[in-house]
Amino acid sequence: MCGIIGISSNKSVSSSILNSLKKLEYRGYDSAGLATLSDGVINEVKSEGRVDSLEKNFDLKNLKGNIGIGHVRWATHGIPNSVNAHPHSSHNVSVVHNGIIENSTTLKKSLISKGHNFKSQTDTEVIVHLITENLRSSELELAITKTLKQLQGSFALGIVFKDIPDLIVGARRGSPLAVGYGPNENYLGSDSYALKSMTNKVTYLDDGEFCIVKKDQVLFFNEQGKKINKKILELSSNEANYDKGDFKHFMAKEIEEQPTTIKTGIKEYVDNLNKDISIFNFPWNIDEINSITLIGCGTAYHSCLMAKYWLEELTSLEVSIDIASEFRYRRNKFKKDTLYIFVSQSGETADTYAALDLCNKNKMKTCAVVNVIESSIARDSNFVLPIHCGPEIGVASTKAFLGQILVLYILILKISSLRKEIDKDQYHEKIKDLKALPSLIEKTLLHDNDIQAISSTFNDAKGSMFLGRGFSYPIALEGALKLKELSYIHAEGYPAGEMKHGPLALIEEGMPVVVLAPRDKYYKKTISNMQEVIARGAKVLLITNKSDNEVVSENIWETIEVENTNDDLLPFLLTIPLQKLAYYSALKKGYDIDKPRNLAKSVTVE
Ligand code: G6P
Repeated sequence: MCGIIGISSNKSVSSSILNSLKKLEYRGYDSAGLATLSDGVINEVKSEGRVDSLEKNFDLKNLKGNIGIGHVRWATHGIPNSVNAHPHSSHNVSVVHNGIIENSTTLKKSLISKGHNFKSQTDTEVIVHLITENLRSSELELAITKTLKQLQGSFALGIVFKDIPDLIVGARRGSPLAVGYGPNENYLGSDSYALKSMTNKVTYLDDGEFCIVKKDQVLFFNEQGKKINKKILELSSNEANYDKGDFKHFMAKEIEEQPTTIKTGIKEYVDNLNKDISIFNFPWNIDEINSITLIGCGTAYHSCLMAKYWLEELTSLEVSIDIASEFRYRRNKFKKDTLYIFVSQSGETADTYAALDLCNKNKMKTCAVVNVIESSIARDSNFVLPIHCGPEIGVASTKAFLGQILVLYILILKISSLRKEIDKDQYHEKIKDLKALPSLIEKTLLHDNDIQAISSTFNDAKGSMFLGRGFSYPIALEGALKLKELSYIHAEGYPAGEMKHGPLALIEEGMPVVVLAPRDKYYKKTISNMQEVIARGAKVLLITNKSDNEVVSENIWETIEVENTNDDLLPFLLTIPLQKLAYYSALKKGYDIDKPRNLAKSVTVE
C-alpha cells in the first residue's frame, strides 16, 4: 500500500522516477508526487489522482536533479488530495512514507509547541519535522536513529535532504523496502517490481534497519545506528509479462492466462514419470503434523477456505482457517504439531505478514504459498510453495486465486497420500484429472458472449447474492467479492443452506442470484435452496457442470454449464464465469477495471 521509489544517479532522475511510479500504481492511486534536489532546492510536485495527472500537470521532463524520491498514495490519514499527497517537505527535508505512524497526534503536538508548521492532515508530516528537529542537534546517522526510535507504528521511508544533496535515506519497520544497484546509480523501492526494470540486483532491508543510498555506494545500519553488511540478491526478471498485450485490461489478460497458470503449476509439482507429486525439501516429517491452520486476506482467504474443504475431504487432519487481521490479535493456542500456511499473492500483505511473524516468534512450522518469491512472507517462512503465475497486475485477484488453490490442492493430495488416507489408484486418478484441467479451463473460458449479456442484469440491480454449498461455497464468496470490487454492486456470498436464516429476507422480485450447483454430493440440496429463492422472485443464474441429466427445476433465468471433471476440481471451473461476470459488468459501467476505487493490490498497512 503506497509505493515508494528513490533514485540517486549521475544524471537527471525525474523521467525514471515517473516511469517507476507508473509501475508502482497498483499499490495506490489516489495521488502521486515526487521531489528532486537541484542547486540547493527541493523541487516538490504532487497531484491528486493518478500518475497521469501528475505528468499532465507538471513539466516533469525539465524538472532538474540527479537525486529524487517519488510516491503513489493509498490514503490512510487525510483525504486524497494534492496537499496530503507525498512527498511532504520542510525547508530542508522531504519524505515519502508507506505505513501508519500511530503516535503522530502526540508527536505533532510537541512539534507544534517547538514552532513547526504543518500543512497536511497526514501522519507522515510528523516524520519530516522530527528529522528536521533532530538534525539541529545531531549528524545525519544519529538524527535518523533518534527519529526512528520516536516513531510508533509501521513505515517504509525515503528521505532526501537539501543540505546533504548526494544521498537518500531509506528506513524500514513493518513495511517492505528494497535497495537496487545500477550502473552509476542506486535505487530505493517499496518492492522489487518497481526496481526490476532498472536492475535485478537488490538488497531487502529488515525491520529496524536503515540505509544511505548514494549513486556509487550504499551503506546499511541497524536499529542502533551501527553499520552492518547485507547480501545482494539476484532477481529473476521477466519484463514481457508486465505487458497488457492485445488485451484491454490486465484483468482480462490474467483471466485468459489461467490455463497457463495451471499448466505451469502442474509442471512444477507433478512428476509425470512417476505419476506422483514432488514437493522438494519439505522440511518436516509428515507424522509431526496433526493439524493445519491456513491464514490469508481477501481472495487469499477464500483460497484458505477452499483448502479447508479439500483437507477435510482428503485427510483426517484438524483444519482451521483464519483472516490474518483477526488471527494476529487473538489469543491463539500455538501447537507444535500444527503447520501454519500463509497464503498471499504479493507476499507483502501487512496483516498476513504479522500473523506469520507471530507464528515465527512462537517457533511454529510456517509455510508460504505466494506468487512473489522474493517477498517478505516468502523470505521469512520456513518453507515456500510458489504459485508461479507470473506478475498479477489487476488489483482484483484472478489467476493468483487459481494458482493458490492449485498449489494447495497439490499439497493436500500429497499429504493425503503420505498419510495413506487415499489409496494409490485414487491418488493416480486424481493426478490424471489434474493434468486435464488446463484444457477444461480453456473450454470454460469460451463462455464469453453469454456472460457479457447476463452482466447487464447485475448492473441494473440494487444488489445480488452468490450461493453455494460445500466445495462451491468458497467460490460463491470469491464471486461476490469480485463483483463488488469491480462493479461496486452490493454482492453477498452465502452458504445456500443458510439463506433461510436471514438473507432470504433480501430477495425481492427480479434480484439476480448466482447459484453454484455442480453435480456433486451437494447438488440436490443446492437445487432445493435455489427453488426457495426462485419462489421469492429471484432471477437465478445457475452455474453447473455438463451432464446427461437435465436440471430438474423450473423458472431458472439463465444456465451456464462448465466442463465436467471430478468433484474436487469443479471449483476451478466454477470460478471462471464469475470472474468474467465481474469483468463485463465493470466494463459496461465504464469503471477502471485494473484499479478499482479505494483499493490497492499490495496492502502493506493494517
Ligand atoms: C488486496 C487485493 C486483493 C487480495 C488481498 C490479499 O485487498 O486487492 O485482491 O486478495 O489484498 O493480498 P495478497 O497479496 O496477500 O494475496
